[in-house]
Amino acid sequence: MAQDRRGRYPGGVKPFSIIHKDAVQHGIVLGVSLPDSKAPVPVEVLEQLHPEERAYAVDLTGYRQVHWVGGRIAARAALQVLGCGGPPILTDPWGAPTSRQDLSISISHKRHMAVALVARHEHGSLGVDLEDLSPVREGIESRVLRPEEVEGVAALPPDRRWISTLLRFSIKEAIYKALAPKHRRYIDFKEAAVFPGIDGHARVELHLESGPKPAVIEARYTWLRRSVLSTVRTRWLP
Ligand SMILES: CC(C)(COP(=O)(O)OP(=O)(O)OC[C@H]1O[C@@H](n2cnc3c(N)ncnc32)[C@H](O)[C@@H]1OP(=O)(O)O)[C@@H](O)C(=O)NCCC(=O)NCCS
Repeated sequence: MAQDRRGRYPGGVKPFSIIHKDAVQHGIVLGVSLPDSKAPVPVEVLEQLHPEERAYAVDLTGYRQVHWVGGRIAARAALQVLGCGGPPILTDPWGAPTSRQDLSISISHKRHMAVALVARHEHGSLGVDLEDLSPVREGIESRVLRPEEVEGVAALPPDRRWISTLLRFSIKEAIYKALAPKHRRYIDFKEAAVFPGIDGHARVELHLESGPKPAVIEARYTWLRRSVLSTVRTRWLP
């Protein structure tokens, strides 16, 4: 969504306010507007955070602070939809958002929006990813796609190839967020193959080099103006 020179969205939407709210198959998705500025986050916004989140956020700078805070505001608002409050959502040593054991939380941010996906953990572990459709990033295919996916993209008309690559990339980042807290290792893009359908679902084949394989992995995507939002849910054997 385009912003004016004062960092406001059309209709006077202020930075750090809720601009997207949805209940999708994998949980509650909340999107918070971000300012297009790396100026320190205003005190009145920091005051919306849990005190421990605020203490963490004040040591961050620039866009990192803006994005981290936006993700927490989105996650806390999503938790409220579930009727949950809970402990601070900090960052674990691997970069994942911390959460209560009975909840699953995942966060993503792009320049103008931070999103959080939350659900009760009994439904599975979650991953969310937000990617802008532009600019087209030439040459990411060889880094992020397996040969069978490259073949699938090449079979498409030229004007659909970038979107198909981006969709696979986004779903893979969401897969990473859903799996990494259990794996505690870097998971390469080639450790999954993604086959998007036209109905908002995607089939995932995992080719994990090590670590536990989830019993079920589901991927979905939806278009938000000029972005794609991907959500992934994994269920593990008890
Ligand atoms: C970690 C990674 C997925 C983040 O994606 P990104 O597009 O750079 O950034 P996003 O804004 O979408 O996501 C950032 C959020 O990811 C979350 N995150 C980071 N590391 C994480 C981890 N190990 N586990 C779960 N979530 C994690 C955090 O919540 C972070 O936001 P926060 O720091 O404000 O809390 C990406 O940087 C990366 O390393 N990708 C390579 C690994 C990969 O995707 N493999 C594909 C496997 S099939």
